[in-house]
Amino acid sequence: MSGALGKDLLGLEHLSGDQIRLILDTAEPFKEVSERAIKKVPALRGKTIVNLFFEASTRTRISFEFAEKRLSADTVNVAASGSSVVKGETLVDTARNLEAMRIDMVVMRHGSSGAAKFLADRIVSSVINAGDGKHEHPTQGLLDLLTIRDHRPIAGTKVCIVGDVLHSRVARSNIWGLLKLGAEVAVCGPASLLPLGIEALGVQVFRRVEEAIAWADVINVLRLQLERMQTGYIPSVREYYRVFGVTMERLERAPRDLLIMHPGPMNRGVEIDSRVADGPHSVILNQVTNGVAVRMAVLYLLAGGKPELAEAAKGASDR
Ligand code: CP
Repeated sequence: MSGALGKDLLGLEHLSGDQIRLILDTAEPFKEVSERAIKKVPALRGKTIVNLFFEASTRTRISFEFAEKRLSADTVNVAASGSSVVKGETLVDTARNLEAMRIDMVVMRHGSSGAAKFLADRIVSSVINAGDGKHEHPTQGLLDLLTIRDHRPIAGTKVCIVGDVLHSRVARSNIWGLLKLGAEVAVCGPASLLPLGIEALGVQVFRRVEEAIAWADVINVLRLQLERMQTGYIPSVREYYRVFGVTMERLERAPRDLLIMHPGPMNRGVEIDSRVADGPHSVILNQVTNGVAVRMAVLYLLAGGKPELAEAAKGASDR
């Protein structure tokens, strides 16, 4: 299978601005399917998709499942804990066995950076990266772009990613996507949680969250990924919140209304104040809603769907 995006979606680093715009534009008609009472469109009828999750997920796994069902695909969910991986089977053997059952696509989350490409190079089916280690989480980057675009043109918008950028696949996909669509991008966090040399990508670095808030139009707050950290990155969670927390008091001093984003899962009172997360400028739940439409667009395009027919595919719905 291949269409305008090629066989796989492994990251945003190697997509062009036009390919990213194509996915976002294709997602637009699918928003209606995911937001309204249109139950299903037949675009992926007869296709079989395996959701292979080796790491925990709420939003990504469930929204891929919704997207697949709303496109009428047949889906199978495989969690590492319930598969023969626990008996020592390799990733490639697992995937080849799935492929032997005639599947069309694999959506995979894995703890190792590069796992999605490793798999894509070894199986014929399309692979969609649902997050690989610290590398990329392309559909999260895309749904973040769609959410910003719902509120303002992306080109020229100042987006600051605040928090644990070092361990964040979401940050990487956001940075590639935003730069390709002409946004100004910055990061802010303790030096220990920012990748060395990140400025070389064309990204500004703020050491103080107050400066980031004064500069930005959009703040994308990241979770502290304590499970990926050895000790010593931050003195304590309480100290982190005191210095880098995105709080109401800090936002009240912003020179303009900011859009507040968070990919989830959130640690309230660690990287973000509950009053900010639930406040009037938060689009955190809009991000989740857009996730279904974006994933529908990715699945549709990888299956060879014609972008100009996405509207028609919606029209041919099974209400
Ligand atoms: N944003 C995100 O990837 O959330 P999940 O880990 O719940 O899928």
